[in-house]
Amino acid sequence: MKRSTVVSGNWKMYKTVPEATQFVQDLAPLIKDSQVKVSIAVPFTAIFPASMEAKDSNLLIGAQNMHDASEGAFTGEIAASMLCDAGAKFVILGHSERRHVFNEDSHFVNRKIHAALTHGLNVTLCVGETESQHKDGQREVILKSQIEMSLEGITAEQMKTIILAYEPVWAIGTGNPASPEVAQETHKLCRQIITGLYGDEVANSLTIQYGGSVKPDNAKDLISMPDIDGMLIGGASLKADVFNQIIEACNVKEY
Ligand code: PGA
Repeated sequence: MKRSTVVSGNWKMYKTVPEATQFVQDLAPLIKDSQVKVSIAVPFTAIFPASMEAKDSNLLIGAQNMHDASEGAFTGEIAASMLCDAGAKFVILGHSERRHVFNEDSHFVNRKIHAALTHGLNVTLCVGETESQHKDGQREVILKSQIEMSLEGITAEQMKTIILAYEPVWAIGTGNPASPEVAQETHKLCRQIITGLYGDEVANSLTIQYGGSVKPDNAKDLISMPDIDGMLIGGASLKADVFNQIIEACNVKEY
């Protein structure tokens, strides 16, 4: 069994067009020979210019969110076809900031996943428990319901185009990552939930990223865990050299 190792940046609401294109110019030569797949979810305004800049490189550009409708009267929203049109290859769905700041639930995330896959966008589905859910021993129940509801109606074949990202809410942007042991235990749990839904073959070939305060100095210990197949990185993805240090740390992954 060989899973892809994927290191992704999530820029959130950072970077103008010139900053984004400069970043791509800086990063592309550094990852020329990388064994790891590298992608960045950029702000909507940067998708087109960053994709153009990344055209002949190993870097994939994607989006951080979208609406599930194909078009319509949804002021301020964006459709899957528009993301594809601008050059996005994937979209992050269900990020905790969307769930908690914008009140998006797993049913909405599920509709978005269906829409994204219909348009040929790969999906990074984020799941994770809050600090109080973690302390109350609710981790498994929360992850199970987020995964099951978000993936309702998604086929085993479609799972090949999905990455799961485990992002404990208490670790995002806090400088307090899950320990490699806790992350491993939770990734294993997520894989078991996927096995329950789709069987071993799908579960064992699914890339599961860890996200939440990943930095160059903790990436190596995290990636050395058997069920951690990559990283989803916020803050530390904003500088090309720092992001590249994490990519290099993940280059050592062996299965
Ligand atoms: P962080 O964010 O790396 O800044 O903790 C991760 C994320 O929100 O995807």
